[in-house]
Amino acid sequence: MIDIHSHILPDLDDGARSWEEALKMAALAAEDGIQIMVATPHLFKDRFNNMEVINDKATILVKIQEFKEKLFEEQIPLEILPGCDVHLCLRALDLLEEDRILTINDTQSYMLLELPDMAIPPGMENICFQLKSRGITPIITHPERHFLIREMPKKLKRFMDLGCLVQITASSVLGGFGRTVARFTRELLKKGYVHVVASDAHNTRTRPPALRRAVEEAARIVGKARAWDMVTTVPDKIVKGEPLD
Ligand SMILES: [Fe+2]
Repeated sequence: MIDIHSHILPDLDDGARSWEEALKMAALAAEDGIQIMVATPHLFKDRFNNMEVINDKATILVKIQEFKEKLFEEQIPLEILPGCDVHLCLRALDLLEEDRILTINDTQSYMLLELPDMAIPPGMENICFQLKSRGITPIITHPERHFLIREMPKKLKRFMDLGCLVQITASSVLGGFGRTVARFTRELLKKGYVHVVASDAHNTRTRPPALRRAVEEAARIVGKARAWDMVTTVPDKIVKGEPLD
């Protein structure tokens, strides 16, 4: 399986806090059957307090290299690719212009895009359009956890019509974010609004890097083949920068 969303790199955000924890997360992921994981630290190290400290391309690439060496030393069979969890804002567009934001696996084809917690900004459609016109497909992360999207699923459909993809969090399907989120996640799956399932792992305990159980649950809703595509063939194209067609 391929996991395109994880906070496994230490000391860059609210994910892993040490190399030790990162390696434990990697071992858990490998055990679950994840072969490739995209490390996607939040663009803003602390977006609630300081939007100036950013995890730019250079910062993340250095950590990725360090992590690869550690995984090799520990003989953990997990391939790590670079990425970034980009919080939607105008500043992000400037940073993209300056080539300081990592797209998934640095292919300039797909980018994780997280909506602000309490809003769907009116400029969102324009940002999607701008990204698409640069050849970058935004992947909207965990809309099932966004209360406004839950109230207006049509908004999500609108972003899909603009060419965005949708990624849900694995544990949402399993009730990890509560019953309301689980119910809405199932609704999104039923409607065909989900392209990818990813772990959005932050640690080993409460938000671990695991996909298998979620896929099995999703399979009960969309069928086995489609559910497995969401963690294999679809993310494979995403990390290679190929169109989904
Ligand atoms: Fe995330």
